[in-house]
Amino acid sequence: MNNKTLTLIKPDDWHLHVRSGAALKSVIGMTAAQMGRAIIMPNLNPPVTNAAQANAYREEILSALPKDSTFTPLMVLYLTDNTTPKDIQEAIDNNVVAAKLYPAGATTNSDSGVTNIAKLYPTLENMQKLGMPLLVHGEVTRNEVDIFDREAVFIDEVLNQVVSDFPELKIVFEHITTKNAVDFVCESSNNIAATITPQHLLNNRNDMLVGGIKPHTYCLPVLKRAEHQTALIDAAISGNAKFFLGTDSAPHAKHDKESACGCAGVFSASHAIELYAQAFDKAGAMDKLEGFASKFGADFYHLPRNTQTITLKKQDWAVPASYPFLDGNIVPFMTTKILGWKLAHTQHGKE
Ligand code: DOR
Ligand code: ZN
Repeated sequence: MNNKTLTLIKPDDWHLHVRSGAALKSVIGMTAAQMGRAIIMPNLNPPVTNAAQANAYREEILSALPKDSTFTPLMVLYLTDNTTPKDIQEAIDNNVVAAKLYPAGATTNSDSGVTNIAKLYPTLENMQKLGMPLLVHGEVTRNEVDIFDREAVFIDEVLNQVVSDFPELKIVFEHITTKNAVDFVCESSNNIAATITPQHLLNNRNDMLVGGIKPHTYCLPVLKRAEHQTALIDAAISGNAKFFLGTDSAPHAKHDKESACGCAGVFSASHAIELYAQAFDKAGAMDKLEGFASKFGADFYHLPRNTQTITLKKQDWAVPASYPFLDGNIVPFMTTKILGWKLAHTQHGKE
């Protein structure tokens, strides 16, 4: 048992925040050491709303990578009320792979997001025509809707309508957190897929709130009750290709999380694949990890699967208390906890 290893096709992260500037430099090497590619979220300030900005951001990421890295950032357009069908064409011409719908006010840097999806219909029409996937932060933002219900209400009020109005549109329902979302994806056509984060597989809202509030487990959509966690685990280990890896690793400095108004975001880039291995092993499903982590996402995006591999070793190790970040620290998810699998790798994305 001690010497047990598992070799996988190199995974990809289909939902990742890496920020820009000094923050980007602090975190990008960690993802590059684990993942072949990542879908780069465009919620910068200002957001990445056109092809020129996406190109500039791609260049910034590439130049922040460790020298020998083969990591590929996959760029995403941030949709606003003013995104046009032409913006979509230009994005595709510049190798932007998807566009992201943030309902205005849903989360970090979403103020420029979409206020009414109906305004975007000509743009969605063109995405459907051109085969560009729509990535969805699936929460309504109306004040009167309870934060724990916002994903389920989004399915009822928005997503059902979009799917019926655009039956050929490829949609990734990002970072799903509820049984409602799992059922919705299972019952939809093969154009609809979902990403699942490590925190929603390993934690539920009790982990965040019982015995004192744990700000480093707070993200959006927020952790839900245990029965939802169970539904997410069942979906991830099911072998259903509609569910794949997307960490939503979202770096915020320690002091911004441990604050009277703490930022939403869980940081997992440093040990993402080990976190997923922990969840899959606990569920007795290590044989299902490779499909979820390394195959299904690439297939959905019509990209080739990676040719490199990574090897995980069965070995207990403690997640560090923190990593350097900007002028201070960042606290990783499951900080100081023991995980049962460790990535065996040389630095910077080489096996
Ligand atoms: O928790 C989150 N943090 N959820 C998001 O949707 C955005 C992210 C961030 O950018 O910090
Ligand atoms: Zn995100």
